[in-house]
Amino acid sequence: MDRLKIVNVVGARPNFMKMAPLMAEYAKHPSLFAPLLVHTGQHFDDGMSDIFFRQLGMRKADAHLGVNSGNHAQQTARVMMEMDGFLQSNPTDLVVVVGDVNSTMAATLVAAKRNIPVAHVEAGLRSFDRAMPEEVNRVVTDALSDYCFTHSEEANVNLRREGVAADKIFFAGNVMIDSLLRLKEESRHSTIRKTLGVEGAYALLTLHRPSNVDTQSTLAGILGAVRQIQQDIAVVFPVHPRTKKRMQEFGLWEEAEGMRNLKLADPIGYLDMLHLTAHAKVVLSDSGGVQEETTLLGVPCLTLRENTERSVTVTEGTNILVGSDPKRILDEFRNITGSGGKRGRIPEKWDGKAAERIIRVLIENPPRRVR
Ligand code: UD1
Repeated sequence: MDRLKIVNVVGARPNFMKMAPLMAEYAKHPSLFAPLLVHTGQHFDDGMSDIFFRQLGMRKADAHLGVNSGNHAQQTARVMMEMDGFLQSNPTDLVVVVGDVNSTMAATLVAAKRNIPVAHVEAGLRSFDRAMPEEVNRVVTDALSDYCFTHSEEANVNLRREGVAADKIFFAGNVMIDSLLRLKEESRHSTIRKTLGVEGAYALLTLHRPSNVDTQSTLAGILGAVRQIQQDIAVVFPVHPRTKKRMQEFGLWEEAEGMRNLKLADPIGYLDMLHLTAHAKVVLSDSGGVQEETTLLGVPCLTLRENTERSVTVTEGTNILVGSDPKRILDEFRNITGSGGKRGRIPEKWDGKAAERIIRVLIENPPRRVR
C-alpha cells in the first residue's frame, strides 16, 4: 500500500506551534506518511509567521496560498478557492487542520465537499459565545471532521453533547504544549528582557480580540487599567498588528507611548514570548493559547474576556476571567501581586506526547481511502 498523503493546513500565528510537533512526528514514519504542509497566508508578516517556522524548526510550507487579510467572508472564500485548486491537483487521503482560525474552517469545508476525510486537532473547545468568530469556526470544523483530536475531558464532553460519535473522538492531549515543553529550555537563553530594558518584576500584556480592540471605549478602558498597573510594575506589551492599527485610529497610541513603565514592542517570536511568559509576575491577555501556556508554566493569568473555550485553565489551572472592566482588572491584578496568585495544576495529557498519540491513532485507524 502506498503512503498516506496527508495535507496539513496552517494559516495564522496560533496554528504554527500546534502543527510543528505533528510534522516532526510524521518524519519518524517515512514509510507510512507522505505529508504536505500548506500555508494559507492568512498571516504573512515575518514577525507573525516566518519567525515561528524557524524557531519551531518546522520545514517551509510546500505550498503558499497567499490569501492575505480581508474581512471574514473574503478571507474564508479565498482560502476555499485556493485550497480547492490545491486539492484538485494533489490527490489527498486526509486533511489535517488545527485550532479555530478562518483558515481552519475554510480548509475543512473544501475537504468535506471533496469527500476527503478531515482530522481536527484541538477539537471540542466551546466558549458558547457565537459572537466570537472562532466559535463558529470550531462548531463547523468539528461537525465536518472524521477525527476529533481533543486536549481535555471538557472537549470530549462538548463533542458528545453535540452528538459526535464516540469513535470519532480521540483524547490525545495538547499539541501546543508539546512545542512548549520541547523549547522551554532553549527559551531560557532569550535576551528579550535585556533588549526591552526590563530588569525587575513585570506584567506581560497581549491584546488582539476584536471584542477588546475594535471598540474605542473598551480599548481605552483597558489601557486605563494598564496605566495604573504600570505605576506598580513594568508592563511588557508586544502589540498585535490589529491592535496597533486600532490604537492609532483611536488616538491611543501616543498616550500609550507616554506611559513611562509600559514597554511597547512589535510582535515577538515564539522563544522570546515563552521566555517572557515564564518569567512574568502575571500575564494579562485575551489570547487562547496564552491561557494554556500560563497554566502549564504555573504563572497567574488574567484573561480579559467574559468567557473562555478553555475552561480547564480556570478549573484546574492558573487562569481567572476578568473581562474588560478596568476596575475588575485592577482588583484582580492587586490580588495577585498581594497573594502571589492562584495555584494550579497541569491538566491530564499536557505532557509533550500529544502528537505522538495522534500519529499512533492515524496508524491504527487509517482514514478510509478516497483516491
Ligand atoms: C486571527 C484569528 C484569531 C487568532 C489571531 C492570532 C480568525 C477569525 N482570527 O485574528 O483567532 O487568535 O489570528 O493572531 O481567524 N495583520 C498584519 N500582518 C499579519 C497578520 C495580520 O498586518 O501578518 C493585520 C491584518 O492586515 C489585519 C489584522 O492584522 O488588519 C488582523 O488580522 P486577521 O488575520 O484578520 O485576524 P487576527 O486578528 O490576527
